[in-house]
Amino acid sequence: MRVLGIETTCDETAVAVVELDAAGRSHIRSNAVLSQIAAHAAYGGVVPEIAARAHMDVLDRLIERAMAAAQVRIGDLDGFAAAAGPGLVGGVMVGLTAAKAMALVAGKPFLAVNHLEAHALTARLTDDVAFPYLLLLVSGGHTQLLAVRGVADYVRLGTTIDDAVGEAFDKVAKMLSLPYPGGPAVEREALKGNPEAFDFPRPMLGRAEPNFSLSGLKTAVRLAAERIAPLSDQAVSDLCASFQAAVVDVMVERTRVGLKAFRAELGKPTCLVVAGGVAANLAIGRGLTRLATEAGLKLVAPPLELCGDNGAMIAWAGIERLRLGLTDGLDAPPRPRWPLEARAQPVAPSAMPAPALPDAGAAEALPAGVLPG
Ligand code: KG4
Ligand code: ZN
Repeated sequence: MRVLGIETTCDETAVAVVELDAAGRSHIRSNAVLSQIAAHAAYGGVVPEIAARAHMDVLDRLIERAMAAAQVRIGDLDGFAAAAGPGLVGGVMVGLTAAKAMALVAGKPFLAVNHLEAHALTARLTDDVAFPYLLLLVSGGHTQLLAVRGVADYVRLGTTIDDAVGEAFDKVAKMLSLPYPGGPAVEREALKGNPEAFDFPRPMLGRAEPNFSLSGLKTAVRLAAERIAPLSDQAVSDLCASFQAAVVDVMVERTRVGLKAFRAELGKPTCLVVAGGVAANLAIGRGLTRLATEAGLKLVAPPLELCGDNGAMIAWAGIERLRLGLTDGLDAPPRPRWPLEARAQPVAPSAMPAPALPDAGAAEALPAGVLPG
């Protein structure tokens, strides 16, 4: 079974071909990604119109490239998957239309994939993990703890009541004049800094519900930076290191509480999985490894190239759905807001107004009032 997957929800245009062989083993036959970082860098965040146009400009060629690298022709493919949301609607429409057109021409199924589900199932592509598992999903738009019980079967145990963790990294980077996207820049700076230089708050620690809050921590960084301005290079590194140390403590403790909630509802998970762009952060990875070891579990983290948005995760989610017969009609709409758990409700209304320009990764950080996912 071979599926082509297209990802265009934010600022990465990505196409991949993934194959499931007769023995049930998965193979990434190709995985082509074109980042639009340069197109958005001047604005310090993703500009939706620029993103949509850039996806349109390169998608055809990227599809050709991914098919050539996988050595497949259209007739060799068994299904065509695209991320139908959550994300920026203009970009989503570009990918969705391309996948539908290919499905129509080939006379093969079309699969409308939830971008979050694709992140959630990546651990099964790379490590063949069994259900149910505990997932910490950390991206530019989401910070969630989910019980992954099966394909299309998720229970949200906790979520953020304000900023997503990637968003917090991006905003801290911006206030310290570090380059966009902020996460990798903050992590690089943190390597040179003292994590104990500033005693930043660890929001929500000790709370029984495994929810997150990150906007207070971000504000604490801003206030500290203002207090000691102008900032020396060392001060920037120290601020980054202290901020990242606080994030690690929060992620580890909140995930520990999530694990408790999981055990109470579903028994022991098969493993602990971390996914999404922020899963690339090594300090967070080390903290979660400690927690997993303490809990007698294995930590499964995607390889770097599958942490950020990519086509392989969309193609793989397509395979998971196709083999269960969960195909979609060609009238499947783009879904800018699309919570993974059908029953999920916002835990608290966001007090933040819609930003004029969404931050990096804001495909999932949707405006005003409603918390995505
Ligand atoms: O999953 P992703 O590629 O896009 C979304 O779906 O949001 O995640 C992007 C986010 C950005 O906020 C980026 O700054 C963050 O992941 N990120 C990191 C690191 N690499 C990327 N955050 C912290 N440390 C990193 N090394
Ligand atoms: Zn993502």
